[in-house]
Amino acid sequence: MKTRKITRRQAITAASAGALGTFVNWSLPSFTINSNNHVKLAINGGEKVHPGTWPQWPVWDQAAEKNITDMLRTGRWWRGDGEHVADFEQRYAGLMGAKRCLATASGTTALIIALKALGVDAGDEVLVSPYTFIASYNVIFMNKALPVFVDSDPETFLMDPSKIESRITDRTTAILPVHIYGLPVDMDRVNAVAEKHNLKVVEDACQAWLGEYRGKKTGTLGDAGCFSFQNSKNLPSGEGGAILSNNETLMDRCNSLHNCGRPVGSMPKTSAYPISGTNFRMQQFQGLILMSQMNRILKDADIRLANALYLSARLKEIPGIIPFKPADGAERSAYHLYPFRYISKEFNGASKERFISALNAEGIPCGAGYGPQNKDGLIEDMLTSKGFKRLFSESRLRQWRAENVLPGNDKLCSEAVVFYQSILLGSRSDIEDIVKAITKIYENRASLKG
Ligand SMILES: Cc1ncc(COP(=O)(O)O)c(C=O)c1O
Repeated sequence: MKTRKITRRQAITAASAGALGTFVNWSLPSFTINSNNHVKLAINGGEKVHPGTWPQWPVWDQAAEKNITDMLRTGRWWRGDGEHVADFEQRYAGLMGAKRCLATASGTTALIIALKALGVDAGDEVLVSPYTFIASYNVIFMNKALPVFVDSDPETFLMDPSKIESRITDRTTAILPVHIYGLPVDMDRVNAVAEKHNLKVVEDACQAWLGEYRGKKTGTLGDAGCFSFQNSKNLPSGEGGAILSNNETLMDRCNSLHNCGRPVGSMPKTSAYPISGTNFRMQQFQGLILMSQMNRILKDADIRLANALYLSARLKEIPGIIPFKPADGAERSAYHLYPFRYISKEFNGASKERFISALNAEGIPCGAGYGPQNKDGLIEDMLTSKGFKRLFSESRLRQWRAENVLPGNDKLCSEAVVFYQSILLGSRSDIEDIVKAITKIYENRASLKG
């Protein structure tokens, strides 16, 4: 019989990887894995570990109802006619510790504008994380630049800073690290490479509200940081986004670019529309929803953190389950998702897909995370497009294809399993059920393979 116990000391060591809110209670029940503990897995017709429900998302706030109805009746729905978007910008900048915030229609539009305002232009190259949502590299294409993927560190789930420098060419103008799932990238190392090679840094913090790195919030660590408030996000408003920066001139430029080129602050006022811009404005409705969601964001973040730390301390005791490792300097994750790696050989060779199905059958929702985005077919479509052939030489594109080999990221994609953020808003007994379900699957791995 194989048994393992987790001690309180091990739990506290795990906790030191992140800041603890007052919510955290480190009473770990003793934990035993027993290889002879055979019961029927739910996927094979046995009883579910968690027959109950999970917290739903998003959660609406009754206090917002009257404000939204009042605003509806005014007819002042666009930001130019009202105060709600500006109010939100001020509050969000204050929360995140940035001088300025510009609200946008979405996270995608925030990223497009930030890159453009920092000078990314047709024919440039931008270094980007491959373990991410498709928008992180689509925004580079939207600026007619070439995304160049930097391999991931499978342990942290993030861009590996040691792999950045070798991907720089004379066309590289910016680095776009992604704090995926809310996990802070080691930004000191990213910024050091950027400074050495005179590159701009745009943080994709679209999943990283309230993440912390060396005493600062994620999204305030580069030249600009971009956020998403799409419906699934920890701060939701249906659609929505924001750019944060301490650079006033840059923010004036972002504002102007997102508002049809109208002059703002330090921008030249030579005409009504002195620069070529577009319309990526946020609406008043979105501003109001965000203001109401801001009332819960700190409390929710503390609950997610406490449950995630507890989960990490427990899951790492199960053979074949490897919780993410915080990058150097990361003090707090925003936990848009909670990620770990599944090592199939420890589970009798059962595939990741089978493990996920088994966990779902036990009543624990989870997903497979991102696929290898650097191999996405749309990239080849872009590289072979008429415009791209004009912008980049055959030999450059050939070299791009030859170097687009990312073993760290491939490993990560094949092993990652994720829990959605609202799961982390569950009770301690809900979280305990996750541990029980994975332990049960491990103990009964002999019957797991389909
Ligand atoms: C990492 C990342 N970047 C960018 C985006 C784009 O944000 P939006 O959907 O608000 O346009 C998202 C949205 O899911 C994201 O997760």
